[in-house]
Amino acid sequence: MSDFAEVLRSWKPRLETWLDEVLPSASTEPQRLHEAMRYSVFGGGKRLRGALVVLSAQVFDAAPEVAREPACAVELVHTYSLIHDDLPCMDDDDLRRGRPTAHKVYGEALALLAGDALLTRGLALLAEAQRAEAVGLMVRELGAAAGSVGMVGGQVLDLESEGRPIDRDAHTVLRRIHLGKTAAMIRASAALGGLAAGAGPEAVAALRSYGEHVGLAFQIADDVLDETGTAEELGKTPGKDRDQGKLTYVAALGLEGARLAAREEVERAIAALKPLGNGANGRLAELARFAVERTS
Ligand code: IPE
Ligand code: IPE
Ligand code: MG
Ligand code: MG
Ligand code: MG
Repeated sequence: MSDFAEVLRSWKPRLETWLDEVLPSASTEPQRLHEAMRYSVFGGGKRLRGALVVLSAQVFDAAPEVAREPACAVELVHTYSLIHDDLPCMDDDDLRRGRPTAHKVYGEALALLAGDALLTRGLALLAEAQRAEAVGLMVRELGAAAGSVGMVGGQVLDLESEGRPIDRDAHTVLRRIHLGKTAAMIRASAALGGLAAGAGPEAVAALRSYGEHVGLAFQIADDVLDETGTAEELGKTPGKDRDQGKLTYVAALGLEGARLAAREEVERAIAALKPLGNGANGRLAELARFAVERTS
């Protein structure tokens, strides 16, 4: 496993302590709702997006604490997207992060509402960020990435494309799905790190471009892992994309074609770091490679 897996593991306790601090306790009324939110947030998870916020801020020599609120915000919004993605009306999944999905444990209504509450908590949390002057830009960044022109939009295209034939247009649609459902949030994570650290517009734009390519690579790897991984490694049920006729890179290009496409996106991500100078080439380049080399 790459060294970056170790870096990620080393950030996990700090990110999870922060997440614990920013969420209402499980004894807060309505208890069952807060229990459900915590069940989904703390049931495993790589924390890649949260770590990306911290590491992007570090490019500008910022202390990790400046990234606390945006890092938690992206992880909360990401967890909401997973809860909803797993619902019977969407991908209908039973397993997430190695445990039964939220709706299996808490029922559909509470899972839906736990997702809603994580989304709103995530966005509101940005208002508490240390760098007060960046709050407006952060809300704009994450709000757009999570919404109809970002993650939610990509999810709609994903559902509409189930069972679609793989013709010429399919490749254009596929890129749009992946840009929306996954790359938008990873792009925002990188940008938020820059904003939290007081980086200027050009540097934030470079982070955005880097994050977008990482996000594409990450989702192509997710498509590959759905085909090649085990439930034990993934903590989710493999083979679902094929069963549900999802439009994925594996369906469009085959396993080898998808792997190649993912590696190309990694190279583009690393190239996008250039304007940031040498400070960005270490950890962020490793993170980009990890996005495709991971096994979970
Ligand atoms: C899963 O994301 C959903 C996708 C966008 C592919 P992750 O693979 O980052 O899930 P966790 O957070 O580690 O559980
Ligand atoms: C979901 O993509 C992306 C989001 C949750 C926004 P997938 O449906 O492929 O994610 P998994 O495989 O269920 O984690
Ligand atoms: Mg899905
Ligand atoms: Mg899914
Ligand atoms: Mg998947």
